[in-house]
Order: sequence, then structure tokens, then C-alpha cells
Amino acid sequence: MHILAIETSCDETALALLEIRGGATAPKVRVVKSLISSQIAIHAPFGGVVPNLAKREHLKNLPILYRQIFSKRQKAKGKENFVPDLIAVTVGPGLEPALWTGINFAEQIYRELKIKNSQLQLVGANHLEGHLYSFLLSQKRGMINNQLSMIELFPAIALIVSGGHTILIKMDSLVKWRMLGETRDDAVGEAFDKVARILDLLYPGGPEVEQLATRGNAEAISFPRPMLHDKSYDFSFSGLKTSVLYYSRDRKLKTNDVKLKADIAASFQAAAIDVLTAKTARAVKEFEARTILLSGGVAANSYLRNAMRVMSRKLSVNFFVAPKKFNTDNAAMIGVAGYFARLRKTRSPLRANGILSV
Ligand code: KG4
Ligand code: ZN
Repeated sequence: MHILAIETSCDETALALLEIRGGATAPKVRVVKSLISSQIAIHAPFGGVVPNLAKREHLKNLPILYRQIFSKRQKAKGKENFVPDLIAVTVGPGLEPALWTGINFAEQIYRELKIKNSQLQLVGANHLEGHLYSFLLSQKRGMINNQLSMIELFPAIALIVSGGHTILIKMDSLVKWRMLGETRDDAVGEAFDKVARILDLLYPGGPEVEQLATRGNAEAISFPRPMLHDKSYDFSFSGLKTSVLYYSRDRKLKTNDVKLKADIAASFQAAAIDVLTAKTARAVKEFEARTILLSGGVAANSYLRNAMRVMSRKLSVNFFVAPKKFNTDNAAMIGVAGYFARLRKTRSPLRANGILSV
């Protein structure tokens, strides 16, 4: 099946073309093209995403990326553009004005392409499911399938860590799962972004904090590990962020205190990641899981990837995370989510839903 996917939930306009075969038991995903137009430079001066600016940029970028995605493919393959069998568009969660731009655009191209392919379908995709399924994008020529059958992967514990969400999920198969816990306040990516602001770093803060942390001592400051020993699988990162704020204020942090800032970044990062790995490990043990799946923008953090990899080795379970370019928002993952939404026949209505859950 050929899929055209569209993502506009936040500050990235993204389009992708994919080919997926194999259904829910042996999916093989080939990303033909994945284009992302980032709005980071536009939102950076405001220290966060401005919804109406995001909408304006999506409206501008969607037709540009659309032309690009087909013309490049045509050139590369020297043949006719393929007409997709499925268009998948993010319907939520995210910023509703931004989501609508993607949905309206999808409906417009659906009407145009339907003339060429009467079988064409249009599905709404859940952004969080996109992250959840993104590990399938780590297949190198179907590597996951060659190494393990999908049945051997489950049960799996999936951790989604993004700017808006921190969710722990138990998956019984590619189409059946349930949420074990989520954050009660800030998402972990949000905590990274807020700590970055405290430390005078640029937006988005995650990569900046990670970069600065490489020069710091993770044991210099013992920040709290919120809810580490709590019996639930919920998280809380707002108190940790506040501790960083008070610690920095108490020391009257100055712009040129690079060593102190690096220690704060490293110690904060270690505290957040300790909680994420400990809760994931506990879920793996409790549910006798065979696999850990890590996804979402914060999964691009090398320290977190390593911590999860080390922990999965200790527990003798598989560990999968997509290449970094598919951790942060992209449309390839939306194509995969759309494919499975169609298989499950649980389609989301084509209406923006800012608070859609998994
Ligand atoms: O998944 P994503 O691109 O967008 C949402 O769905 O929210 O995640 C964005 C979040 C931001 O909070 C960003 O700071 C964080 O992911 N992030 C990172 C890293 N790269 C992105 N956090 C920590 N370390 C990173 N290297
Ligand atoms: Zn995301």
C-alpha cells in the first residue's frame, strides 16, 4: 500500500511517502521520502510555539512540500508519480489551528487524487500512535522482521516521551494496548524546555540541555526523582523543574556561569532519566515484557537512549527506538499510524482534536 502522510500538529510541517505491506503480523515499512519544514527559527524568539504563527507557516509550507515530494520522486525514479492508496493526516493531539491546516489540505488533495485512484482512502491519524509505531521505522530492510517475528516482540512496554506527553503503555500486539500511566503535570520534554529557559538556552530546549550536559557532572546536584517509588506508573516533572528553578535562583545564576549551568543541566537530565528508566524497568518486570519501545522527541536524547539500552540488556529484553530523525515530529510515523488505523478500522473523525489520547 502506498501512503501519503501529512503532519501539522505543532511546529513542523511534514509530508512523507511510504510503502507498507504485511498487515499487523509482519509489517514492512519503506519510507520513500520524508520531508520536514521546521518552524524553529520563527518561534524561537517567543521561547515557544505561537499557534497562529504555526498555522500561517503550515498554510505556506504545505503546497511547497507537496510539490517537492512528488517532483523529487519523479526525478529519482524516472517514472510517473505514484498515486497513493491512502492519505493519512494527523487529527490530534496538538494545536487545533495547526491541525486544521493539515486536515483541510488533506481533504483538498484527496478530492484531486480520487479522480486518478477511485480506491483512494483518507484517514485521520493519532499523533501519539505515530510516535508509538515509530520503532517500525528503525527497520533496515526489514531488520526487525528478520531478527524477530512480531509475535516475539510482545508483550512490550512502550514509553512515549515528547513535548506534550509522557506515557507508559503495555502493548500486547501492534493493534492492542493499554495505557499504564502518564504524567500528572508537565511532560518530560516540557521540563527540558523549561529548564533550558532557566539556563538561558535556546528553544527548543531539549537538544540544548543535552549538549550543555555533556560538559557537566550529573552527580553534582541531587535533584529530586519525583514519583520514583510511587506504586503507580504515573510521572510528575513539574516539581523537578521547580527544584532547578530554586537552585538556580539561590545561586543567582549568571550568564557566564558555564560550569554551574552544565552541572545543573547534567544533574537535571540524570534525575529525569532515572525516573523514566526505573518506571519502564518496573513495568517490564511486572508484565514479563519481551521488548522496550522508546519514542517521542525526547527519545532523541543520547543519554536516555543509552540508559534504556543498558537497562534492556540487564533485563534481557529487546530494545527498539527509531533513528533520531524519526523521534521528533515527522510525517513518516503518521503514515504508519494511518496504516494501522485503517487495519484496526478504528478511524478518528476528520476533525482536529487537541486533546486526543492513545
Ligand atoms: O515529539 P516532539 O517532536 O513533539 C511533540 O510531539 O511534542 O517532541 C518535542 C520535544 C521538545 O520538548 C524537545 O525539547 C524535546 O522533544 N527534545 C529533546 C531532545 N530533542 C528533542 N529532549 C531532550 N533531549 C533531546 N536531544
Ligand atoms: Zn510529537
